[in-house]
Amino acid sequence: MLETRSLPIIVLLLITGSAARPFFPLPSKDTEDHRQPLQTSRPYNIAHRGSNGEIPEETAAAYMRAIEEGADFIETDILSSKDGVLICFHDVTLDATTNIADFKQFANRKTTYEVQGVNMTGWFIVDFTLEELKLLRVNQRYPFRDQQYNGKFQIITFEEYIAIALDAPRVVGIYPEIKNPVFINQHVKWPGGKRFEDIFVKTLKKYGYKGSYLSKEWLRQPAFIQSFAPTSLVYISNLTDLPKIFLIDDVTVPTQDTNQSYAEITSDSYLDYIKEYVVGIGPWKDTVVPVEGNYLTMATDLVARAHAHNLQVHPYTYRNENIFLHFNFHQDPYQEYDYWISKIGVDGLFTDFTGSLHDFQEWTTLLSSNDDSALELLHKIASMIQSYKRG
Ligand code: G3P
Ligand code: CA
Repeated sequence: MLETRSLPIIVLLLITGSAARPFFPLPSKDTEDHRQPLQTSRPYNIAHRGSNGEIPEETAAAYMRAIEEGADFIETDILSSKDGVLICFHDVTLDATTNIADFKQFANRKTTYEVQGVNMTGWFIVDFTLEELKLLRVNQRYPFRDQQYNGKFQIITFEEYIAIALDAPRVVGIYPEIKNPVFINQHVKWPGGKRFEDIFVKTLKKYGYKGSYLSKEWLRQPAFIQSFAPTSLVYISNLTDLPKIFLIDDVTVPTQDTNQSYAEITSDSYLDYIKEYVVGIGPWKDTVVPVEGNYLTMATDLVARAHAHNLQVHPYTYRNENIFLHFNFHQDPYQEYDYWISKIGVDGLFTDFTGSLHDFQEWTTLLSSNDDSALELLHKIASMIQSYKRG
């Protein structure tokens, strides 16, 4: 209880204090980010579609699980609804990973469109408004993964995904992909003739994402922009200096916009060209080290050549299950991580299982801050020994 003789002092403090600087910053005035920063001393753990090995892909729950498990970046594929709202979803059709087939009112929307030169039939995302998409629920893609979350989570928007990253208890980067830009620009129209890429960058800017790789702004809100379409990457280079990653598909698949072959886009002359726009490449891992009979063959020189061009390499996609693991790894995903990090020397890994990659890196690598404190300790011990000798 307050003693009455203290009251005048408290009243005086309250009156004078109201105009003075508070002892501690008010929450609304504290612009410093006290969260644990992004680690930059070991290959990036990129949570592919969230922790989708456990929870249906690209849902809020999958992203939150990935953040809990130690992701440096959460990855997403950006598409658009019919009414031009950017959403997080991988396929241009809703068939494989939602319960769209259960909605009788949408039965007549099934149709056929050409996508990257191939006729596809299904319920296309670009034929549904955001309000309609929000009625659906997402399912696990693979039958051998946990099915208990099927039908529980909604499709989320690009803005909702960004909010999840910004609300994380430590700094977590975003890694959005401009998905199927040729198809999206054909089917969705925005006011003023704006392109998909314009809306994509506008959204990033709205939430403060800016700055070149490792700049102060970037470290505060890290983001990599990725695309399989080089013209999209070149176009957005005029809109933002955020770092970009050029995705490279399988050896048989030409680029969706420029129709260039794998050989062409992995040539030294092309790497020389694209490095003006991107900080790295994201190849399918089985093209970096080709596979025969489910065994790895000799590694190509793509990683060495990319590094020689000062380009990072972030291959996709690492998956823990036996069905995806090549026989060399003896059904052990940790051996696969070890091979790609220690032998091939990649700079980031897209994984469906963020938790296993995080565990592997925690067990095998000291973060630089730990290195620093270990060094500091050694210096302290050395100086103590020196002063003991002098004494
Ligand atoms: O974005 C990296 C990797 O995700 C590319 O493949 O098909 O999973 O988007 P995809
Ligand atoms: Ca992707």
